[in-house]
Amino acid sequence: MAETWTVDGKTSIVTGSNTGLGRVTAVELARRGSHVILASRSEERTTPIVEEIGRQVGHDRVEFLALDLSSLASVKSAADTFLADGRPLHLLVNNAGLAGRRGMTADGFELTFGVNYLGHYLLTRLLMNRMVASAPARIVHVASSVHHRARHIDWERLRKPRLVPGRSEYAVSKLANILFNRELARRLTGTGVTTYAAHPGLAATDIYRVVPPPIRRLVTRSMPTPENAARTQVWCATAPELWEESGRYYADRRQKDPSPAALDTGLAAELWTRSEAWVGDFL
Ligand SMILES: NC(=O)c1ccc[n+]([C@@H]2O[C@H](COP(=O)([O-])OP(=O)(O)OC[C@H]3O[C@@H](n4cnc5c(N)ncnc54)[C@H](OP(=O)(O)O)[C@@H]3O)[C@@H](O)[C@H]2O)c1
Repeated sequence: MAETWTVDGKTSIVTGSNTGLGRVTAVELARRGSHVILASRSEERTTPIVEEIGRQVGHDRVEFLALDLSSLASVKSAADTFLADGRPLHLLVNNAGLAGRRGMTADGFELTFGVNYLGHYLLTRLLMNRMVASAPARIVHVASSVHHRARHIDWERLRKPRLVPGRSEYAVSKLANILFNRELARRLTGTGVTTYAAHPGLAATDIYRVVPPPIRRLVTRSMPTPENAARTQVWCATAPELWEESGRYYADRRQKDPSPAALDTGLAAELWTRSEAWVGDFL
């Protein structure tokens, strides 16, 4: 029964889980008995974390999956690897993200948008049918209140590098996470797969790695720990009482209103249609 939702004995994938909020989320899910797959881009950096989580939680149902969200081919390969052995998938936490970095993805998208949103769009689409077959199942998108700063999506800019990285491309990527959550919920109605967007709040994590160390120490000193900040996304992934809710946005383990742009159903539909065309070769 969906209202007795538990991750115990279920299979979960958490993206970007070698550090920060993703790592805490992986620990919390494994502690609750889930078989957790850490989908990260560096096997070298993730293997010690897999082993450490195993020791922490006292079971070995923790593993690594290679996933680089800045390459749609890598996303496809990660999904194919997971799907190949026919396992069910009950929980997908789209957590990985970056901010303040310049560059383009392998497929010609502005890096922040490509990693934070488009890679996750493709991953979710490729895993979706397996999740429907495994229902009840959940998808959690790690968003941010910074999305309030993006009033719209400039489609042309998504294909151009930023000369100076700033908060605006990050805000657009997080707006896209929330729009995706809403459109996905609409399309998954009646399937038993529910979807949630979570704002963790500021947390002292590696996301501030682009800030020079002395300033970084100063900026992050008064921020909550990753353990505290990850509570909302862990709650969205595990709380039985959310089983009837889908497509909503949460902060501090409460439902919150996202920005007017994030509630724009036309924009959500357009983002879906454009994303489908962008990743088309890999679907
Ligand atoms: N910390 C905050 O204040 C805050 C506030 C609001 C929202 N958030 C959101 O919380 C989520 C987690 O961030 P965090 O604070 O935990 O940051 P973090 O410590 O920097 O962790 C980010 C994770 O994403 C991974 N990642 C980056 N680029 C990737 C790629 N191309 N392919 C696969 N994985 C990639 C990183 O892997 P590597 O270690 O290999 O780079 C890392 O595992 C993000 O979505 C972020 O936007 C954070």
